[in-house]
Amino acid sequence: MLKLIKMTVNEKPVELAVDERESLLETLRERLGLTSVKKGCEVGECGACTVLVDGEAIDSCIYLTVWAENRHILTVEGLRGPNGELSPIQRAFIEEAAVQCGFCTPGLIMTAVEIVGSGKRYTREELRRLIAGHLCRCTGYQNILNAMERIVEETYKTVGKEIPGG
Ligand code: FES
Ligand code: FES
Repeated sequence: MLKLIKMTVNEKPVELAVDERESLLETLRERLGLTSVKKGCEVGECGACTVLVDGEAIDSCIYLTVWAENRHILTVEGLRGPNGELSPIQRAFIEEAAVQCGFCTPGLIMTAVEIVGSGKRYTREELRRLIAGHLCRCTGYQNILNAMERIVEETYKTVGKEIPGG
């Protein structure tokens, strides 16, 4: 059964009729052309399909699009600056050589956005646990953690203190 859904995707209002069984992964990738959202396991195990819903990282393969009604969705495509420039998190991944084949990268970047958004200063061990829901088939975890650690430190120094409740 089709349902008319209104949501915001990368700061743009979107209105479309979706099947009630359609996953947010299918809607974003196949209907809206947001191919940064990767289709991996499709059972919530690999993290490749991670996007933010109202600031919270979720596996879009096990999240129904109808649940996104009136919510704000953010994907990697929405991180670009007004002139197409990369975000600091994307730059950190490149500079720390945290990208190999790149399949896991968009999902990890979206989790990094959530982590950085908290304003907290996480230890490497805490970061390791926070990315435990992501599988990297190329196994470049050390460089991924280097990038995460770097962006968390840079953000923390910019903000200067932990954000209360973050
Ligand atoms: S494709 Fe969604 S968690 Fe693997
Ligand atoms: S860089 Fe290839 S899966 Fe992670």
